Amino acid sequence: MQAPELVDAPLVWSPDELLQSGAYAEPLIAGGLRCHGGFDSDGRYRSPRTLHRGPAIAAWQARLAQEGTPLVDIDRCLMPPQYPNVAQAKLLLQHGVRDPLVRTLTIISIVEGFGAIIRDVAVPDLRALVVEPVEGTALAHLGAGLFEAHARDESGWRDEGGHKQMWEAARDLAFEKPKVPGDVLLRMMGRGGRAERGERLLPELDEKAERLIVMMAQVLAVEVMAEGTFQWGIELLSDPEVSAAPEAAGDMVRYVRADESPHVEYLRTALSELRGRTLRTVDGRTLAGREAVDRVLHRLLRNLTRSRPRQQRDDVRTYLAEDMKVAGNPAALLEAFDALDASWTPPERTGFEPETAAAG
Ligand SMILES: [Fe+2]
Ligand SMILES: [Fe+2]
Repeated sequence: MQAPELVDAPLVWSPDELLQSGAYAEPLIAGGLRCHGGFDSDGRYRSPRTLHRGPAIAAWQARLAQEGTPLVDIDRCLMPPQYPNVAQAKLLLQHGVRDPLVRTLTIISIVEGFGAIIRDVAVPDLRALVVEPVEGTALAHLGAGLFEAHARDESGWRDEGGHKQMWEAARDLAFEKPKVPGDVLLRMMGRGGRAERGERLLPELDEKAERLIVMMAQVLAVEVMAEGTFQWGIELLSDPEVSAAPEAAGDMVRYVRADESPHVEYLRTALSELRGRTLRTVDGRTLAGREAVDRVLHRLLRNLTRSRPRQQRDDVRTYLAEDMKVAGNPAALLEAFDALDASWTPPERTGFEPETAAAG
């Protein structure tokens, strides 16, 4: 539910407005680098580029509520746990085995930096694609400020660091500038082969429209799943038994987490707006937005909840035996590590199952 005063915010904003940050009493410095965001006079962290973006998203959501269109909501039960879990990670660190964690944190920072590609997503002519009007919606602002703000938050902008640099700072604070294993990039490149290629999820639509919907759904799903990673990062890096800077490192991840909230909110708003409308197909017919959005979300969530835990586990375990050689008794450590493993089964339903006999 929105606060009543926010409901009155305008529905139409310029790109410049959506990119504006408020004034900060103090900037955020991470690892000696000026980062985005900052602190107000009460010392509270304020996310970047939210001066108008926040009220704008609230106004678009309030409009959806007035129209009776529900907001897309991804069930947090679908979030697979981070591997290794906090207890396992702590065990490794207490035995001097740091490489798996240094690698994981470095990969998170690199993936955050990749978030900048969202600015390259082409937005099709929405007036041609959508039957109903799109003026005054989040949809109409995707290519006019929202994607750009998101890209800047993730990878930094000009001389300001973003999430990439903030995660690096958290890692370096907690583990005192550890040596990053040289195989990190190589391992990330090995992941590419598992992606599904060439499969069209919305063959009824123009490819550009399909790409936009799939990309938004994918980024939303990843952003929601990242919430588990943030929780994990905060718990681990705030633990004085294994972190050299429990307060500063934990806080850095808390700031990143705060910045992610507008990403989740604008994406679910735009997808909900599409879901409540009607799309024109390439053969001159129409497709219910609900059918299109649900089909994509269902497929992506089903795949992610199954592939993501497996991928994380494979990533860590490939080098685990090698990494553990620095410990006094690697065999005993591996046994203790595995004993702390909590099993997880993805839920049966994604919540976006296709309806039977959906009419086109
Ligand atoms: Fe991020
Ligand atoms: Fe994000």
